[in-house]
Amino acid sequence: MTDSPPDPTVPPDPTVPFDLTVPPDLTVVVPTFNERANVRPLVAALGRALHGLRWEVVFVDDDSPDGTADEVRALAQGDGRVRLIHRIGRRGLAGACIEGILSSSAPLVAVMDGDLQHDEGALPGMAARLGADPTLDLVVGSRAVAGGSTGAGLSALRARGSAIATRLARAALGITVSDPMSGFFMVRRDSFVTIAPALQTRGFKILADMLSCARGRWRVDEVGYVFRPRHRGESKADSAIALEFLGLLAARATGGVVTIRFILFALVGLSGVFVQLAAVWLMLALTPAPFGLAQVVGVVVAMTTNFALNNALTYRDRSLRGMAFLRGLLSFYAVCAVGAVANVGVAGALFRAVPVWWLASAAGAVVGALWNFVASSLVTWRTR
Ligand code: GDD
Ligand code: MN
Repeated sequence: MTDSPPDPTVPPDPTVPFDLTVPPDLTVVVPTFNERANVRPLVAALGRALHGLRWEVVFVDDDSPDGTADEVRALAQGDGRVRLIHRIGRRGLAGACIEGILSSSAPLVAVMDGDLQHDEGALPGMAARLGADPTLDLVVGSRAVAGGSTGAGLSALRARGSAIATRLARAALGITVSDPMSGFFMVRRDSFVTIAPALQTRGFKILADMLSCARGRWRVDEVGYVFRPRHRGESKADSAIALEFLGLLAARATGGVVTIRFILFALVGLSGVFVQLAAVWLMLALTPAPFGLAQVVGVVVAMTTNFALNNALTYRDRSLRGMAFLRGLLSFYAVCAVGAVANVGVAGALFRAVPVWWLASAAGAVVGALWNFVASSLVTWRTR
């Protein structure tokens, strides 16, 4: 390496728009899952909108089957502003955003969808506000202030759901911004780093979680933008995101002590109680089976539905399929069997010490449930 100045007779490489030894002022984080066809149009749109700013874009891709990561890598080979975080064996929007933001060393970081629904034209205004006011921590792209609207971007059903979630978030999380469900915002990196350890990596609504964690400490501004229809591909939002959002509210209600995953696990466990009762009732009503046998069948049926529901919901970021599903089911039976022994053992010991039946029984159930949660996350749905 020499330190000689660049040769002015060599024309600058047109694909390298600025000197890479100068760090960017802004990182745009784009979480992606199956957005291959949107990558190039998005980078082109950012190039137009952010002209004059030093910026980079970080795609955080969860190993999309459509090859989004390959497309980003191909683009990055000719454009130093494009970076990729390629995550394997993991899923989840909030976690992807957090990782992307933490990968940045720029003073300002924006998050936006990879499908061109968020208006990149709002980014320079957001950066200007954060630049002009050093006490400002966050600027939210809002569909609910002047200049903003949902346009044709959401179905009527999604728009209703979004409105309900917004009211819930405001009531339960003490959030005051107009559009906490937005996935479009710009944050001061230093501010984000202080709250990052408290954030939930599950779920779809990272902004609502950030606002709840930073409550009362952050100064927040909003700019309007029009939510556009998706450019190509399909939305990944599904009915499970509503449940995950309720889990987020519950997690925050416990001050973050309890995770969204545990809340989902507990809800599934509760459903298992009803499944077991229904199965025992059916066995007794429809077959000549004695109670003991009916109870055993009821327990097995409930463990099986618990496994299937946890696999689809609680652990949907690492869902087991095919042979792994069967192996997982067997290991879940084993985990629950040990949990049942622990449940009975703890309840018995406590009852001998303090003979209050419901207290002893409930303590046994809590210990059994905690065991099932911890052991199944380590054994049945362990990360690779
Ligand atoms: N890495 C990763 N992992 N990215 C994901 C995942 C995932 O599991 N799920 C979704 N994404 C990416 C999508 O590829 C897209 O770029 C972005 O996250 C948003 O997903 P969409 O499927 O397009 O969601 P939406 O349009 O229904 O909702 C979005 O806009 C709303 C309005 O601003 C989200 O950003 C919502 O949070 C937001 O409320
Ligand atoms: Mn979208």
